[in-house]
Amino acid sequence: MTTKIILCLTDIKAAPWIEGLRAALPDADIADWQPGAPQADFAIVWAPPQAFIDEQAGGLKAMFNIGAGVDAILARQLPPALKVVRLDDAGMSVQMAEYVCHALIRHFREFDVYEAEARQGRWVYRRPLERADFPVGILGLGVLGERVAKAVQQFEFPVLGWSRTPKAIEGVRTFAGEARLGDFLVGTRVLVNLLPLTDATRGILNRQTLSALRPGGYLIHIARGGHLVEEDLIPLIDSGHLAGATLDVFQQEPLPAQHPFWRHPKITVTPHASARTLRRETIAQIAGKIAALSRGEPIAGVVDLVRGY
Ligand code: NAP
Ligand code: GLV
Repeated sequence: MTTKIILCLTDIKAAPWIEGLRAALPDADIADWQPGAPQADFAIVWAPPQAFIDEQAGGLKAMFNIGAGVDAILARQLPPALKVVRLDDAGMSVQMAEYVCHALIRHFREFDVYEAEARQGRWVYRRPLERADFPVGILGLGVLGERVAKAVQQFEFPVLGWSRTPKAIEGVRTFAGEARLGDFLVGTRVLVNLLPLTDATRGILNRQTLSALRPGGYLIHIARGGHLVEEDLIPLIDSGHLAGATLDVFQQEPLPAQHPFWRHPKITVTPHASARTLRRETIAQIAGKIAALSRGEPIAGVVDLVRGY
């Protein structure tokens, strides 16, 4: 029987995905979802509407997300037995490592200050800072967080990590569970957020947690807008407790034109671009998993709907 695959990619053009999937899975019947479409075996989605879930999810063998974060799917009413599959790296972790190392080094080496001086035609040295005074703490030690931890270690910064369950990563001081969050934060100066957005992590970056960072703390926020209580950030920067922030994700995206983050001199904004979905790698990964499931084999990246990631 022909395998039926349906796409529902909100705000993303389906045509190049369909073309790539047809090349990877030539025997499959692949279509973009329209209301009333026949039941598919597999779905490939980004932020699907409830109407799609209501029509298709009950009869699917699996629903593949074309991103790592599944919060937009789990915000829907889902059948409890639905197999939701997250993107498992597929070229994202190297991008996250680049992004974090760039933001960290730009801050630590004060390249933003050099850039501003250079624009004025000024040849001015800055006193070298001590790497040991910039411990980097990573919230979330999953597919992306662990890769980032290893990349940051290459530049000889002290590295700390926090996860839900205990982890051992060579050279990284690891902390697990809510009870150890405080110890993790007081040892951290540059805080990198790579947590999934769940009921347990929503609003985790707030006045209390950010105040616990070492003085001169810096935030690199690249997971989900819902993690940060946005109104708490600028007062902490303006008071001098935090040195600044690099922000890639926001409560409202695109970030509204009048939002103060755009113009704050110590905040760098990027448009949810820290790790982009790479179409070729993503199609190869999903096609491989559809083939594995069709052979009755287990696959990696299945989301625990109760845990939320
Ligand atoms: P992952 O592999 O699922 O890893 C999640 C990590 O967070 C795990 O280490 C997990 O702990 C930890 N965690 C989850 N809930 C926790 C809690 N309540 N307390 C402490 N630790 C907790 O996810 P990933 O692939 O690394 O991706 C992380 C997130 O990055 C995604 O969910 C997505 O939101 C975001 N993301 C953003 C972009 C972007 O462009 N901005 C791109 C891709 C992904 P355990 O190891 O103990 O389970
Ligand atoms: C992007 O934000 C993702 O979750 O992959």
